[in-house]
Amino acid sequence: MGEKITLSIIKADVGGFVGHSAVHPALIEKAEEHAAKAKKNGIIIDYFCGHCGDDHAFILTHKKGPGNEEIHKFTWDAFLDMTDLAHSLGLYGAGQDILSDAFSGNLRGMGPGYAEMEFVERQSEPIICFLADKTEPGAWNMPLYKMFCDPFNTAGLVIDSNMYQGFNIQVDDLKEAKKVTFDCPSELYQMLAFIGAPGRFVIKHVYSKKTGEIAAVTSTQRLSFIAGKYVGKDDPVMAVRCQSGLPAVGEVVNPFAFPHLVAGWMRGSHHGPLMPVSMKDDHPTRFDGPPRVVALGFQLKDGKLVGPRDMFADVSYDRARQIANEMADYLKAHGPFEPHRLPLDDMEYTTMPIVMESLKDRWETDTEENKAKASGKTI
Ligand code: F6R
Ligand code: MG
Ligand code: MG
Repeated sequence: MGEKITLSIIKADVGGFVGHSAVHPALIEKAEEHAAKAKKNGIIIDYFCGHCGDDHAFILTHKKGPGNEEIHKFTWDAFLDMTDLAHSLGLYGAGQDILSDAFSGNLRGMGPGYAEMEFVERQSEPIICFLADKTEPGAWNMPLYKMFCDPFNTAGLVIDSNMYQGFNIQVDDLKEAKKVTFDCPSELYQMLAFIGAPGRFVIKHVYSKKTGEIAAVTSTQRLSFIAGKYVGKDDPVMAVRCQSGLPAVGEVVNPFAFPHLVAGWMRGSHHGPLMPVSMKDDHPTRFDGPPRVVALGFQLKDGKLVGPRDMFADVSYDRARQIANEMADYLKAHGPFEPHRLPLDDMEYTTMPIVMESLKDRWETDTEENKAKASGKTI
């Protein structure tokens, strides 16, 4: 058996250009510098600096396993350095995802998000890294369900003898910090009872039942729960291994042809369609959106990242983008009304406490006596 490789995607928003719409080229250059140095020093095997909207993502390969201090520390230092640069350029929300000022072993609870998996590289190892902006980790639930559980998306679940056994799927409860693994397909209905509520229950890992191998991982940190108050949507990342007993590349990217509704548009307080875009279009603009996703495809070779191929830069996604734009029009027309606006408890921004306070003397209890008074009758 070959040596184990770790793929880590580590991301943060450390300043937007302009507003919350993109990462400034100088920040990307700074990130490149740090990653190139880490490669030269042998900390990592290879890297790609990706981005989606105002989030920068380090896509890294190494042999140190998930949660490794050296790997997390180098990206933390890079994000701090990028934050300084963001301040000096006057970028918007500089240091937004830097929630702590002291690094203590790994990035848990520090602000940046990460998705990491360790595996023995197969003879040929196709991997797709997904990066999203203006949404939350639960946005991956529906696409992952389709990839690994839905034969109407993934033909291999029915006709590939290495796949029809199904997958074990780990779901995290972000509120209670608990996890459970579902045996799919036999426990699909139980799993759907949870993952249909993506603000709280999030698919974290997927494993092949045939081989026990890891197939997918997502970032599940929820900044709101970490910080104790809302400090922004988490703008999640995900990595999915493909082919040879796992969903084919085409089965992995197909779910995004349906731009499903996700939470996170404008002020983290609105629903919008998740629009699949190429890297050149990964800049949420209209009403700070609509939410975006990019898919970067790589072939791994001895840990080297051969790629990326910009998977959504393809005419077969034109229609999804058109539908997403139409959905955006339709939802936008609801203005401040739900379901465009999120339910009260899920909004990142709210004026409710101050509005309530200012009206506290004007709200009357709607008793029979008051109703009678209003109509001038006595009871
Ligand atoms: C950021 C986001 C944006 C901001 C909005 C207001 O991820 O979703 O829509 O919430 O631009 O930002 P502030 O309050 O910084 O003016
Ligand atoms: Mg931002
Ligand atoms: Mg963002």
